[in-house]
Amino acid sequence: MAMAPAPLLLPAVSSLLLFLCLLPLAPPASAAAGADPTPTPWPPQFHAKLIMDYHGNLSLADLWYDWPGGRNLHVIRYQLAADEPYFDNEWNNGTSFFYTPARRTCRSAAVGVGILRPDWLLPGAVYLGRRDAGGFDCHVWTKADFITYYEDVNTKRPVKWVFYTGRTSYVMSFEVGAVLEDAAWQAPEYCFTKDGETSAKIREGHSHDEDSFIPRGVL
Ligand SMILES: *[C@@H]1O[C@H](CO)[C@@H](O)[C@H](O)[C@H]1NC(C)=O
Ligand SMILES: *[C@@H]1O[C@H](CO)[C@@H](O)[C@H](O)[C@H]1NC(C)=O
Repeated sequence: MAMAPAPLLLPAVSSLLLFLCLLPLAPPASAAAGADPTPTPWPPQFHAKLIMDYHGNLSLADLWYDWPGGRNLHVIRYQLAADEPYFDNEWNNGTSFFYTPARRTCRSAAVGVGILRPDWLLPGAVYLGRRDAGGFDCHVWTKADFITYYEDVNTKRPVKWVFYTGRTSYVMSFEVGAVLEDAAWQAPEYCFTKDGETSAKIREGHSHDEDSFIPRGVL
């Protein structure tokens, strides 16, 4: 009987057919149509020069981000300010220092959270699409309604970010791997004195987080 073996082959053949039918339903994730782009994590260390605009109040800032060092520093120069620069020095143990050397004034704040992780934007980021930002073709995300973040489609570098308060930072240069020398991170001694007008006020909670140029408590 020539036909006898056919029923024995059938299960194998139908399994193969089933497998072939399922293949087009499981494409690689990267090829999935309509998958939103995700924000590029920050490099562990960088130096960025920023122009900041807070409702017309302009400043130039150097941002030194140092994730392995657990620290983040903004050195800010307000337009035509006689007492520049102003420092916003944030540490991963949750302490921030805000000081103006020209006036020997310092405040500290216990923010309660560490500095932003390199991938801080990724969890919970909502993709808004592609937009032009000053001539740069950008992917745009928002997070928790607190920040809108523009990243260059081609270079993956941040171009600008806007906080819900209206504070806008434009990235003028972005130097990957640049590290500020240790001595420049040291908060001045008047941040640690107990008396006089320079005394540091430590407070719990997020009360001073809005002074940070990146309000990490909400991101
Ligand atoms: C801009 O804001 C800073 C910080 O609040 C302030 O010290 C500075 O005086 C402001 N500049 C002008 C021109 O108002
Ligand atoms: C955080 O670290 C800095 C630098 O080591 C230190 O001066 C500060 O007191 C620390 N803050 C806390 C709450 O441990």
